Amino acid sequence: MILKGLCGCYIIPGISHDFNNILACILGYNEINTEIISDIKDDVLKAEIENNTKQIASAGQRAVMLIDKMMIYARQDTQTDIINVRPTSEIIEEVLEMLRPALTSRLKLEFDNNLGLPLISVLSKGSNLPTQIEINAIDLHQIITNLAINARDAMKNQIGFIRISLRHVVMSEVHCIACAAIMNGDFIELAVTDNGTGIDPKHIRRIFDPFFTTKPVGEGTGLGLSTTMGLVHSANGHIMIDSDLTGISKGTSFKLLFPVPVIN
Ligand SMILES: Nc1ncnc2c1ncn2[C@@H]1O[C@H](COP(=O)(O)OP(=O)(O)OP(=O)(O)O)[C@@H](O)[C@H]1O
Ligand SMILES: [Mg+2]
Repeated sequence: MILKGLCGCYIIPGISHDFNNILACILGYNEINTEIISDIKDDVLKAEIENNTKQIASAGQRAVMLIDKMMIYARQDTQTDIINVRPTSEIIEEVLEMLRPALTSRLKLEFDNNLGLPLISVLSKGSNLPTQIEINAIDLHQIITNLAINARDAMKNQIGFIRISLRHVVMSEVHCIACAAIMNGDFIELAVTDNGTGIDPKHIRRIFDPFFTTKPVGEGTGLGLSTTMGLVHSANGHIMIDSDLTGISKGTSFKLLFPVPVIN
């Protein structure tokens, strides 16, 4: 992995250190703005700026935690790894709130939460239905953001939708598109679906390669899906993709399948 190569030569600790300083500056000025807000007389403007500063603070905090994770990885210090599991639907709502300002009014962003609704054959052994994926909250945030931003970019300024959905599914002999593992049984499916351009079949095998991008220079690094794949696999999840270039099913659906947590 790229990260592994960079750890040994102090690049990650160095960048993390400088990045932390920049973040401290951004968050510091944001804090000052938060204090100034009370002087604003226009209530509508005040509410809007209040919301914006809240979003900056929360995105900044996530960046701080991401840097902490990179430092832990660079130190190879698994003992102190941060386990921060939070309700999946809460994290999705947070991502939606963060993404909305980055979308045009032509794009509809939906969350379809069916985790509470069992399929007849799902979880026949257990009476309790788990409603969350066992994954670090920061990782889940990053996964959904990467997939949703890709979905937005695939829309190319057209009218469309991005749908995030959660449900229980039963799989039989399906393959992970990224690692070819075979999946059988009960899973929690987190899907990010769009009605954008679709993925050209000749690209589909390469989209998880680091630095593979079809976006113009300066618009994509090609690291989003390789990072996403790593995070999904480290939570013991796998990935399936449905994608069509034409017709009524035109668009793409990334389906992430996570093991159903055992409830004691
Ligand atoms: N929802 C989607 N619809 C159509 N194509 C997609 C979609 N998601 C990914 N792709 C294709 O996969 C490629 C790789 O995606 P990836 O997220 O790894 O990199 P990127 O989006 O190009 O750049 P970035 O590093 O900014 O994420 C994209 O350039 C695009 O061609
Ligand atoms: Mg991307």
